[in-house]
Amino acid sequence: MAFHVVRHPIAESVLTRLRDRDTSVCEYHLLCRQVSFILLAEALRSLELKTVPINTPLAPCEGNAIADLVTFVAISRAGTAMLGPALELLPEATIGTIGIERDPMTTEAHCYYQKLPKIKGRYVVVLDPMLATGHSAALAFSLIAPQQPKILSLVSVLAAPEGVEHLMKKFPSAQLYAAALDQGLNEQNFIVPGLGDFGDRFYGTL
Ligand code: URA
Repeated sequence: MAFHVVRHPIAESVLTRLRDRDTSVCEYHLLCRQVSFILLAEALRSLELKTVPINTPLAPCEGNAIADLVTFVAISRAGTAMLGPALELLPEATIGTIGIERDPMTTEAHCYYQKLPKIKGRYVVVLDPMLATGHSAALAFSLIAPQQPKILSLVSVLAAPEGVEHLMKKFPSAQLYAAALDQGLNEQNFIVPGLGDFGDRFYGTL
């Protein structure tokens, strides 16, 4: 697996506002959209193109269209926050949803819901803003990988080294994108310094 920290001045400043505990829910939505665009653009960099004929106002010419078929899979709840920007970039993509909960005692991830479209041969991007232990992402990958996607990738806003290592061991050929690699996890498996609970901050359920 390759782990890519996507470095961009806009992403850095947006991330700082996301981390700030005083940032409002309203601003949080805008920042999430902004950082998602930057991360997704990088995660989709190796999409294949096909040549298409078009007419400009002045002359016929050739242009490019996306040749790959793309599926976004949001890990509910927090991953759905990135679905809007993903579809703004690629409205023709199909969508999957996987509901994953962590057992608070064992921290084991378990899937309570899944609805996936056909995935074989498709360019699959899993959306989960916080890669903490990596157990949720690994569970999502284990549900998707048997369907043989062309590319299997994860887009997160923040990653912890523990999560990156866990996923790298289990899915050596997957691609992972994040705006930063933080110090590590605390006893509650929150990313430090992190930004808190992404879902709570996005949905205002603090
Ligand atoms: N999920 C979150 O929302 N935040 C963390 O720090 C870890 C997992």
